[in-house]
Parts: sequence; structure tokens; C-alpha cells
Amino acid sequence: MSGALNLTELREGGTQDLGEVNRIMQDSFDPRFGEAWTSAQCLGMLALPGVWLVVASLDGEDAGFALARAIGDEAELLLLATRPDARRRGIAGALLRAIVAEARARGVVQLHLEVRAGNDAVRLYRREGFEKVGERRNYYRGKMGQAFDAHTYARKLG
Ligand SMILES: CC(C)(COP(=O)(O)OP(=O)(O)OC[C@H]1O[C@@H](n2cnc3c(N)ncnc32)[C@H](O)[C@@H]1OP(=O)(O)O)[C@@H](O)C(=O)NCCC(=O)NCCS
Repeated sequence: MSGALNLTELREGGTQDLGEVNRIMQDSFDPRFGEAWTSAQCLGMLALPGVWLVVASLDGEDAGFALARAIGDEAELLLLATRPDARRRGIAGALLRAIVAEARARGVVQLHLEVRAGNDAVRLYRREGFEKVGERRNYYRGKMGQAFDAHTYARKLG
């Protein structure tokens, strides 16, 4: 696939997208770390007030998504994933900037996220202006029962 010709498009997602979101999630998250959600968890979350989904497609095929929740003037990035074969083309960066734009439009002044310690996604978050604000010991539980720490990041949007 030639990188220069790829077309990435973003759209607001809904419950109709959850089958594809779940496929991307299962392909994207390494089961060793216990970061992926079940489709039931996604469905339940999407039904809550203030939750929104952004889906990214690459050349017409769904390739990534981001899920976020705003409560008052704070928001949290809940999930961000790009299919392995579509990575390093800027999809997650575009999704993250779309989440930031929508959060701002909703009056959010601070955006939070949690990421497994050692996840390469940290480079993306730092590049997009997030700073580490805390650590949560044993936050993720892998398939084999091992625990992994999470680091909390935040970005002011004001
Ligand atoms: C993290 C993830 C979402 C990045 O998706 P992506 O579409 O490849 O990200 P982008 O192409 O927008 O990358 C933006 C920047 O992030 C950094 N980055 C992303 N993946 C990286 C990796 N594997 N190693 C080092 N840096 C990486 C780089 O700085 C990259 O910019 P560059 O390609 O110009 O160097 C993707 O690897 C993924 O789905 N991982 C599994 C799920 C996950 O861990 N999600 C985040 C926690 S919820």
C-alpha cells in the first residue's frame, strides 16, 4: 500500500459501528495487557450521557476509533486504537485531535486519559500536549492474571 495515496476520513460513530469497533479492538490490543473492552462494555458506555465515538476509515475501510466521555467541564479519553495494518499513518493522531476539538466544543477545559506504563501510545500523547499527572498501580489485569500499572495524563484545553 502506498502511504502517499491513503485517504483517512473521520466520522461520528454510533451503536451501528460497534461490531466493527469490536473487531478493531480485538485486533489492536494485545491480550497480554488486559486493556481491551468487551462489546457489552462499549455498548453500555455509549448509552451514557456525554459519551461519543469517532471512527476513522482508511481508503473506505474502518481502521481506527476513539471513545470519550465528558462530564461537566472535564472529559476522559476512554479508548483509542488503530488496526495493526493501518498504523503509523497518523490515524490515531487525527482521532485524538478530533476528540480534543469535540471536547472543546462541549466546553471541556481538561482532558484526561490513562495508559499502560510502557505503551508506545505515550509518545503520541506527549506530542499532542498531554502531561503525566499520576500513576495507578496494578490498574490493568492481563489474561494470565499479571497486573500492569497505568499512568494518568492530562491536557488543558482552555
Ligand atoms: C497507539 C496507537 C493507537 C497508535 O495508532 P497509529 O494510528 O499508528 O498512530 P499515529 O500514526 O497517529 O502515530 C502518531 C505518533 O505516535 C507515536 N507512535 C505511535 N505508535 C508508535 C510505536 N509503535 N512506536 C513508537 N511511537 C509510536 C509516534 O510518535 C507517531 O508519530 P510518527 O509515526 O510520525 O513517528 C496504535 O498503535 C494502537 O492501536 N495500539 C494498541 C491500542 C492502544 O494501546 N491504544 C492506546 C491506549 S488506549
